[in-house]
Amino acid sequence: MNAHDSEKVIGTLMAQGYAQVATPEDARLVLYNTCSIRDKAEQKVFNRLQNFKREAGKGKIFGVLGCVAQQEGEKIFDRAPHVSLVAGSASYTRLGEMLVQLEAGNRRVTGLSLDTDETFDTPFTRRDNPHRAYITIIEGCDKHCAYCVVPFTRGPERSRTSQSVMAEAGRLAAAGYTEIQLLGQNVNSYRDPSAAGWDFAELLARVAEVPGIRRVRYTTSHPRDFGKSIVEAMDGNHAICDHVHLPVQSGSTRMLAAMDRLYTRDDYMRRIEWIKAARRRYAITTDIIVGFPGETEEDFAETLNLLDEVQYASLFSFKYSPRPNTAALDRGDRIPDEEKQRRLIILQEKQRAIQIRQNAALIGDIQEVLVEGRHQALGQWIGRTSDNRTLNFTHQDSGNTGDLNGRYLSVRVTRSGPNSLVGESVTVV
Ligand code: 5AD
Ligand code: SF4
Repeated sequence: MNAHDSEKVIGTLMAQGYAQVATPEDARLVLYNTCSIRDKAEQKVFNRLQNFKREAGKGKIFGVLGCVAQQEGEKIFDRAPHVSLVAGSASYTRLGEMLVQLEAGNRRVTGLSLDTDETFDTPFTRRDNPHRAYITIIEGCDKHCAYCVVPFTRGPERSRTSQSVMAEAGRLAAAGYTEIQLLGQNVNSYRDPSAAGWDFAELLARVAEVPGIRRVRYTTSHPRDFGKSIVEAMDGNHAICDHVHLPVQSGSTRMLAAMDRLYTRDDYMRRIEWIKAARRRYAITTDIIVGFPGETEEDFAETLNLLDEVQYASLFSFKYSPRPNTAALDRGDRIPDEEKQRRLIILQEKQRAIQIRQNAALIGDIQEVLVEGRHQALGQWIGRTSDNRTLNFTHQDSGNTGDLNGRYLSVRVTRSGPNSLVGESVTVV
């Protein structure tokens, strides 16, 4: 989400006549796009600002964008007086106007209002990847998970119209992109604000029908809003990738209630069953937080046995980190860091064993990959499967196949590890 915001900001700047330079040292305007989801993000931003200013900051204009900007607001000007622009993502629709103010010599330009019903649609986006493109379908979040800063930094939920999403998908396909990733804090609560009134399942199905688009992914889902119609849409079109990322956060219903997640473990498992009963086999991945205030050894054991039950293909795991403004903040940070670290390691080791087993069972399979790069030293191409695994492979070419990046090839899996697969292509190029 954050990376795609940067792509849109760069696009907006370029449309206004700015040019991107190779290094920050070469720039006259330096913008930091920040994330504050966990840890001491604020501290890191101030350290970077200070160091860079000392080394190469002479005569440059500095701006801080994103969630730290939204969270710290005008305090940033006090702590880093050389900063001239502070703007959160809900204000980016005004970015063009803010840049004009900066150019006019204004040294305190802010965009901090969260009071918006607009999304940051840009006529031009400078995309980092030539084959896969992000499309934001919904911004902000109306859930209030007790640990999460997002509703305070990205503001309330706003969906884009289906026409504007479909037009962007069509333009991307025409420009040669073959994979689209639909983005939002909670894509499942997408609701088309125009008369068509599509829900997320409908939008997903329609994007997958755009000619030229071979893969559609989406992130992130919220179990409460993840309806069965999404699984039906996925089953209905192979272009929708064989992967569901469904963050659970904890396997303990007691902890889920403390986190205000609005579902129980049973509710979550019902969704897992829909996915497992589907016509295709889907890889399921998740996010987990350990050490949320009040998490007992028994709660943590429930999270561990959830891993056995679901058999995730991979997961992201985090130590709880108290965030400003959130409901959990005044419950303190009661679990010592060493204990959080211990739980994190146990969790990750358990998951590693699951992945070793799961990946080994794929040896011999033939999978389609999108080629994403090359490991020169290993003599391997880097591929990604529809179910989001990395499958590196060798390719016996007839001598002059050249660059395979962006191609779709069939690859036989020959070896496996905890985090990736190795294989050889069976496509004749
Ligand atoms: N502490 C730790 N992890 C967090 N996440 C969000 N907020 C916090 C926090 N305060 C994690 C959740 C979420 C992912 C994007 O980041 O697991 O799904
Ligand atoms: Fe944060 Fe919860 Fe919204 Fe996800 S659903 S962005 S965890 S508040």
